[in-house]
Amino acid sequence: MSKPKILIARAIFPEVIERLAQHFEVESNQLDEPFSREELVAKLQGKDGALTAGSDRIDASVLAACAQLKICANMAVGYNNFELDAMTAAGVLATNTPDVLTETTADFGFALLMATARRITESEHFLRAGKWNRWSYDMFSGAEIHGSTLGILGMGRIGQGIAKRGAHGFGMKVIYHNRSRLDAALEAECKAGYVSKEELLRTADHLVLVLPYSPASHHAIGAVELALMKPTATLVNIARGGIVDDAALAQALREGRIAAAGLDVFEGEPQLNPDLLRVPNVVLTPHIASASVPTRMAMANLAADNLIGYLKDGKPLTPLNPAVLAPQ
Ligand code: GLV
Repeated sequence: MSKPKILIARAIFPEVIERLAQHFEVESNQLDEPFSREELVAKLQGKDGALTAGSDRIDASVLAACAQLKICANMAVGYNNFELDAMTAAGVLATNTPDVLTETTADFGFALLMATARRITESEHFLRAGKWNRWSYDMFSGAEIHGSTLGILGMGRIGQGIAKRGAHGFGMKVIYHNRSRLDAALEAECKAGYVSKEELLRTADHLVLVLPYSPASHHAIGAVELALMKPTATLVNIARGGIVDDAALAQALREGRIAAAGLDVFEGEPQLNPDLLRVPNVVLTPHIASASVPTRMAMANLAADNLIGYLKDGKPLTPLNPAVLAPQ
């Protein structure tokens, strides 16, 4: 019997491709040039499954042109590149990679917060440029971390990981806002108090964004929200581009209406709003929050396990639209 066919739409670890090749006929984009919509549709012809990344948009028009497709396994926890309703309607299973990246991403959120509040990259650029010729009392003094108020917008698994780091590791007072409030036991574990979005914006010394992107969260932080924040506050976005209005943020940073921002994700990435490159009080990283070697390997293996589990046995590990699965 011939093996099912899959497309690996972006480069991944060779050892994971080898695993997949034991089960499938594999075509892999190891050149790692992201496919245009037309190229993706052409490559998906005759494929039963695809291992995708955030740059691969799977929408109704792609699905209509790829009748044989049965599953798209995203190598990411976020899946705003999937039109989930259209996938369900087309009978195409969607999977993501939750849990395996939670702690690594929370670590990075904290690293970005620290680098931003304590002006680490800004001061390093100064030093590398040969501008450091004397110590001075106020050189690159930033905001306090320990004992300050940490605000978290979006309190899923990663938000909870950041809350625990802040509360238990740095003695921070943690407040959060989320679509739904955590139960009392989880709030106690995270030492986090629920507040309105407005109170979160007004009160946080550091605000970390960890909510999923959807039309409802588009520009959840724009000029109005930035104006509510403390002028000494830092903002960190490790969630998705588009949650922050980057143009409004660049203006707020330029005008000193907030102190600093740490951004791992951007509207229209990998393109950046050039205004962000012109302000010194922003730390910029290229969407690497989950990028530790073991975690990226775990994400690739979980995506592979979803493909193998579903195409071989009808049993994916982390389905996003289980309605597609046959009744158990
Ligand atoms: C990365 O951004 C992810 O969603 O896993």
